[in-house]
Amino acid sequence: MLETEFCNIKMKNPTMLAAGVLGSTAASLNWAARSGAGAVVTKSFGKEPNKGYVNPTTVEVTGGVINAIGLSNPGVENFKGELEKLEGKVPSVASIYGANPGDFEGIAVQVQDMVDAVELNVSCPHAMGGCGAAIGQDPYLTAEIVKAVKEVVKIPVVVKLTPNVTDIVEIAVSAVSAGCDALTMINSLGPGMRIDLETAKPILSNRFGGMSGPAIKPVALRCVFDVYEAVEVPIIGVGGIRDYRDVVEFLYAGARAVQIGTAVMYEGMEIFTKINRGLEKFMLQKDYSSIEEMIGKSH
Ligand SMILES: Cc1cc2nc3c(=O)[nH]c(=O)nc-3n(C[C@H](O)[C@H](O)[C@H](O)COP(=O)(O)O)c2cc1C
Repeated sequence: MLETEFCNIKMKNPTMLAAGVLGSTAASLNWAARSGAGAVVTKSFGKEPNKGYVNPTTVEVTGGVINAIGLSNPGVENFKGELEKLEGKVPSVASIYGANPGDFEGIAVQVQDMVDAVELNVSCPHAMGGCGAAIGQDPYLTAEIVKAVKEVVKIPVVVKLTPNVTDIVEIAVSAVSAGCDALTMINSLGPGMRIDLETAKPILSNRFGGMSGPAIKPVALRCVFDVYEAVEVPIIGVGGIRDYRDVVEFLYAGARAVQIGTAVMYEGMEIFTKINRGLEKFMLQKDYSSIEEMIGKSH
């Protein structure tokens, strides 16, 4: 009843672990899979190991969290060791980042036999060295990266978009015209900040970071809704999802699957099973026999 699919990747339910939240090791990705996630996305990794910013890298705000981790990761060579240990219980997606088309292409080629899809993170609002949202805010650069990766990999290429643009539809259309197979939206919102009352200084070492959690859900939902009307490729919705009701809203807006990030930090891996149970109950009450029937219903 809860089955869904994107790019011919079959999922037993529409929930996925979002990139960056507990997905740095095979152990945590396998744990999410065993806990009921329909698919898992790794923490974003790049060409070389990256320490990221010094602490503090996350701070709570009303309705969510602001983080500026700076894409800390062990680099593709080390991450391959983790990907080898995936149990394969559910589809896995490698989230990758870089500063230019060559970086993305080089990493995608190295991992394409180990995962079911790659998700291009062109949307991190606190990345170092020209990686991140600076790319995803530019339709031309986004397209160049998609084309480069599509030329070298056989698995589906998903592009993760930033909401921090004037018109997300323009970026989405550009990524799709360049050949991407699916879109994930949204990465964290912002940048935003918090200031310490005692020191009068910004709390995060990077001063600014990306906002996630329940407060960004309305923005994420609107992005999915708008982009659904403009493109034909599958959409994976993410941003502020905490319970099955949020998932229903994303499906109605046009998402085929959803990712959950911040809520996993608060509620643990049990959240996947909890959401799936709630969703199943809702579908029975409303007489839905498949997820497919719910996708895009608000249009
Ligand atoms: C601590 C933390 C780390 C994150 N790291 C990544 C990352 O490495 N790559 C990425 O594409 N998104 C990353 N994100 C963004 C999430 O994948 C997601 O797009 C965003 O948090 C919105 O969803 P949520 O409200 O369910 O957390 C991170 C978010 C958080 C809170």
